[in-house]
Amino acid sequence: MEIFVYHTPELTPANSLPDCAVVIDVLRATTTIATALNAGAEAVQAFSNIDKLMEVSESWPADLRLRAGERGGAKVPSCDLGNSPLDCTPELMQGRRLFLSTTNGTRALQRVENAQVVITAALINRQSAVNYLIKQQPETVWLLGSGWEGGYSLEDTVCAGAIALALVDAGYTVANDEVIAAIALFAQWQNNLLELFHQSSHGQRLLRLNCHADLKYCAALDTLSILPLQKEPGILVSH
Ligand code: MLT
Repeated sequence: MEIFVYHTPELTPANSLPDCAVVIDVLRATTTIATALNAGAEAVQAFSNIDKLMEVSESWPADLRLRAGERGGAKVPSCDLGNSPLDCTPELMQGRRLFLSTTNGTRALQRVENAQVVITAALINRQSAVNYLIKQQPETVWLLGSGWEGGYSLEDTVCAGAIALALVDAGYTVANDEVIAAIALFAQWQNNLLELFHQSSHGQRLLRLNCHADLKYCAALDTLSILPLQKEPGILVSH
């Protein structure tokens, strides 16, 4: 297995896809996706465009759908929910499909939606992603951060580093320099992930929006054993 880390969708090589793409948006889309599926959502359907989300979700029975939209960290007014994983309670999610559009995470998903296998990972389900990769042994793996509007984000890279470290320890191959850098970042901050989030630009944006509890929840390692797996482009279900 060859492991690549890319910090943003924009930094991935053009006209190429891995055997398995691992999409990471720790703050907060992939944390929300894992939490929603863990709480019993039937599926999470991701859209980069909010108008498309509204159009497609319209054909879904109203009592079986929830629309979640986020831009700039804040809830999109026309949606039922924003992008807080803390809103994904079993009472709300059970049996429903979550239609989700976020600033960066859903764009990253779109970049790799045609890969043979797509999974999503966050710190809360890091170990499940590692277990899946070790079991399935894809030849090439991209650990793909979502970043923020094309730029680097600490929280996605630290999660990529957490996954990469476990894979390298298991004997798999480092395939680009970003893997080494991501592992170094995780090694430095692994016992202080919440503090790292307080220093990151998107963490600070969320703190300004009073999302302290979200940061704490997203910074916890290996709290869920769920693994979101794409069953068709843009649609994630529990593996
Ligand atoms: C994103 O896709 O950029 C994020 O998940 C933003 C957020 O809601 O924190």
